[in-house]
Amino acid sequence: MKTSRRLAAISQRVTKQYHDIWDCCCDHGLLGADLVKRNSANCVHFVDSVPQICQHLEQNLSHHLPYTSNGSTSQWQVHCEDVAKLELKGNGTQLVIIAGVGGELCIDLLKGILSNNPKFNFELILCPVHYQYELRQFLHSQEIGLIHEQLVEENQRHYEILHLSTAKHSPISKVGEAMWQLSNPKHQAYLAKTIAHYRRMSGNNTHPAQLAYEALQNA
Ligand SMILES: C[S@@+](CC[C@H](N)C(=O)[O-])C[C@H]1O[C@@H](n2cnc3c(N)ncnc32)[C@H](O)[C@@H]1O
Repeated sequence: MKTSRRLAAISQRVTKQYHDIWDCCCDHGLLGADLVKRNSANCVHFVDSVPQICQHLEQNLSHHLPYTSNGSTSQWQVHCEDVAKLELKGNGTQLVIIAGVGGELCIDLLKGILSNNPKFNFELILCPVHYQYELRQFLHSQEIGLIHEQLVEENQRHYEILHLSTAKHSPISKVGEAMWQLSNPKHQAYLAKTIAHYRRMSGNNTHPAQLAYEALQNA
């Protein structure tokens, strides 16, 4: 399977060497495999909760990325577990990636990870499907800081890629102010679609997200 434009854009955000990278909800494992090949971490951890997916992935990775040992740690590991129960390593820089799942699930997984790992800071790359405003609201409430945000188009769908840190950085905007290029017709179309979505959801009351996105459109 070929790495998609969305996954390639996430991979390109990884520009430094981490101690551990966690490809959460990894499924096919394409993203993590790319990061192993690029030597982006001492260990890339592939995490998925479905046993068959994990078995298949382990076989695939063993075939394509032979299990090499670098000192006491190996270059990759597959973990069959619920991401909400993830315990990060306390030693060295940690990057947690959650992509391709709904924003609501992403919030639940983050609540678990944050409560299991209260003692140290880590970076996050999130690329949710839908529910972005609510996810951003949650991240804002947790004071998770923004490093970078970007909008990527693939097969006529738009994906928001958020690179974040639990250490202090700029506060995250609920509408992603830094990612928009509003002279770009594709960005304009995504903004119009997002506003239409919240208009439909609001019924008689105006949804705060609708007002926030409209303000962006009128700026
Ligand atoms: C659509 S795939 C996303 C694959 C890949 N991350 C991507 O962006 O292309 C979603 C995966 O999330 C896994 N998943 C869902 N909930 C999970 C959880 N609580 N813990 C671990 N994996 C989970 C599913 O088993 C599935 O393989």
